[in-house]
Amino acid sequence: MGLRVWAPGRVNLIGDHTDYTGGLALPMAVGRGIEVTGDPGGSWIMVGSEQFDGMCELPLTIADPAAVEPPWARYVAGVAAELPARDGLIGTIASDLPPGRGLASSAALEVALALALGGDPTDPLGLAQACQRAEHRAVGVPCGIMDQLAIVAAVEDAALRLDCQELTFEPIPLPDDVEVVVVDSGQSRTLAASPYAERRVQCLHAEAIVGPLRQATPEDVEAIEDPVLRRRARHVTSENQRVDAMVAAFKDSDLRQAGELMVASHASLRDDFEVSTPYLDEAVRLLCETAGVYGARLTGAGFGGCVVALCHPYAVFDLPVPVVWRGRPGRGAFRAQV
Ligand code: GLA
Repeated sequence: MGLRVWAPGRVNLIGDHTDYTGGLALPMAVGRGIEVTGDPGGSWIMVGSEQFDGMCELPLTIADPAAVEPPWARYVAGVAAELPARDGLIGTIASDLPPGRGLASSAALEVALALALGGDPTDPLGLAQACQRAEHRAVGVPCGIMDQLAIVAAVEDAALRLDCQELTFEPIPLPDDVEVVVVDSGQSRTLAASPYAERRVQCLHAEAIVGPLRQATPEDVEAIEDPVLRRRARHVTSENQRVDAMVAAFKDSDLRQAGELMVASHASLRDDFEVSTPYLDEAVRLLCETAGVYGARLTGAGFGGCVVALCHPYAVFDLPVPVVWRGRPGRGAFRAQV
């Protein structure tokens, strides 16, 4: 019997660069993703990709996932090593999720592979953590847990409030009469080649001064002497507050307030965390000038990639930047027998 696994990309509505300091985030699944089809069993993992060249051929015991070729196969090796996989797989990867665009294509790939290689879907946190470790080990990106957890645990028609300190997730239904639109800024990037790791280290330095950012008060943050560390900490603490303000706005169906919070989040990512780019700022501006848009912000790590907006279902987009996806929150990853 063969299997089919599907894992969606995610878009984060608010709460970026908060997960790796135990903060809050509000991601949801989009309707584009990565599919793995194949036959489990045997003692080899042999996987091809419709998108990338070369074949992944691995034994079940993998000493160093970071040394595997071709480079995309490092994700397969990392996941297989971290689960660890007990059975092989002969399969194919297909995707309609653009890579390097801030929609968590790496995490979607990891989760799809983890489910295809026998990962336990009844333990969403364990599955997400294995995928997070795989990314650290195989490609050296010190990512937080948001992407993997969002993809595993996503619920249709809801965003997930992730508490990355407690490692809990709560579905927050989206109000009626609103859609989520994702627009490509036209700038691609990889996290490995971005200052993502540097931002993470700066947060650690700020925490060495004021303690955990999740608990730090605005007064603590303003007392940090180093202006760069002060700005980084200010973003994180204010962004955590915005996530809960957004949850409250959704519960009250207050879409104007939700949109204002997104715009404030973008400004904070641009000015205090310094992860925006002129392309992202321009895409946010264009969206915010469109009739029926409540608010927009960069989504994910920044440094390029996509912008997310909340809009009325009747909003019409005639923009110089492409709409990658539009709709309501989709379902999380799943595995089926075929
Ligand atoms: C990337 C990482 C996540 C998170 C975001 C920024 O998507 O994989 O863990 O840190 O950036 O919010």
